[in-house]
Amino acid sequence: MTNFDTIIANGLVVNATEQRVCDVGIRDGVIAAIGSGLGTAHRVIDATGKIVVPGGIDSHVHISQPSGHGIVMADDFASGTLSAVCGGTTTILPFCLQQKGESLREVLKDYHAKADGNCHADVSFHLIVTDPTPNVLGQELPALVEEGYTSFKVFMTYEGMRLYDDEILATMDCARDTGALMMVHCENEDAIRYLIGKHEDQAKVEPKYHATTRPQVVEREATHRAISLAEVVDVPVVIVHVSNGPAMQEIRAAKARGRAVVGETCPQYLVLTAEDLDMAEWEGAKFVCSPPPRDAESQMACWEGIETGVFDLFSSDHCPFRYDDPHGKLSPDGRKSFRWIPNGIPGVETRLPILFSEGVSKGRIDLQRFVALSSTNHAQLYGLYPRKGVIAVGSDADIVIWDPEKSGAIRQAGLHHGADYTPYEGLHIDGWPILSMLRGAVVMEGGEPTGVNPGGQHLARERSPLVEAARLAHSPP
Ligand code: URP
Ligand code: ZN
Ligand code: ZN
Repeated sequence: MTNFDTIIANGLVVNATEQRVCDVGIRDGVIAAIGSGLGTAHRVIDATGKIVVPGGIDSHVHISQPSGHGIVMADDFASGTLSAVCGGTTTILPFCLQQKGESLREVLKDYHAKADGNCHADVSFHLIVTDPTPNVLGQELPALVEEGYTSFKVFMTYEGMRLYDDEILATMDCARDTGALMMVHCENEDAIRYLIGKHEDQAKVEPKYHATTRPQVVEREATHRAISLAEVVDVPVVIVHVSNGPAMQEIRAAKARGRAVVGETCPQYLVLTAEDLDMAEWEGAKFVCSPPPRDAESQMACWEGIETGVFDLFSSDHCPFRYDDPHGKLSPDGRKSFRWIPNGIPGVETRLPILFSEGVSKGRIDLQRFVALSSTNHAQLYGLYPRKGVIAVGSDADIVIWDPEKSGAIRQAGLHHGADYTPYEGLHIDGWPILSMLRGAVVMEGGEPTGVNPGGQHLARERSPLVEAARLAHSPP
């Protein structure tokens, strides 16, 4: 009789807090033993010279999100999650977006109908609140938090979706009362709209003007305001997709004051710049996302935030649109002005190769920090730990093997997303994931899907420990 379904043998097993060469035994989709001389298995995977880490968790992903104006997202849950596992990510946290007038419960049903039974990775939804009515705040959100939807995002930008400060405060109050974690997209919509008007008056409509109408200061101001609003109501807050030094410094200063503020940054702010939006023939549209990529100084600031712990999360903000498509970046309106180009870029598959190559292989971060930023911190912050985010006995066998010696450029032809381009075309990568396992099943090997799919599951989440700690700290004696 064999002891295990699979043994991963002799790899360097890395968690966020420790690393050692050993074997990992897997039974019934769960990690059953860690050590040496574990015995027999149906399959032994030789990981000598390789790095064995917890499956990546990408806590900022948009899939099948209705986008209006005839725009269609390039990924559904099948392609988005297949792309994720091919890039070493085995759990994603996509958003369920409420439109004005909609019931969150009803929208969530629609998203589940699209996702359930179609996923190659495990999935757990955040909620985006764009219409915080008394019913949403008083009835729907409290019930949904109880059911395991324990995080909400709000926008300070995007016409029709942004919340005003009093609405943000009311939503934050709801988060505090229900124990949910708030995520905020920080850009000043009024300033952006004013700048867009000025640009269009001067016939400045090319994609590069997306960046000049969303300058760093509108992000820095909104970051300061979001942190201040969270302080007014006394809740923890996650500042998502931070792109530059001044915004990062707002988070650093708030942390230094003892505020529970978490920072997230993304690959686009490390390896792209606003110059990419200035490509000829409207190709700059491929890089339109918000906040926009900045400059070399901002890239260095984001690295500094990663290295010094201002940023605890590294996510993709995967939000894919096809480029050469009337339902994508080159929609009839999107060809006329940057303001109609759908915001967002694909990146769920390239997030971790970029962090590994630019971070670990170039010596900016060590392997344990890589694991923290790519997996463990997401699991801990969003209530999935220790089921996810760690190689430990009893945890789900979501495991990825990396080959630090494997090199090669990112190419659209090698990716599995539904977009027809990657903004990272040609970027040289040192270190690729060579095997992904979801709950014990090998779903990717050698960079390609194996065709095996144990069925991505929806995960109800616990409340964030950060929120629980803040509640305890502030409860009356
Ligand atoms: O441009 C972006 N980031 N699109 C996705 C929506 C969002 O703001 O996260
Ligand atoms: Zn956002
Ligand atoms: Zn996003």
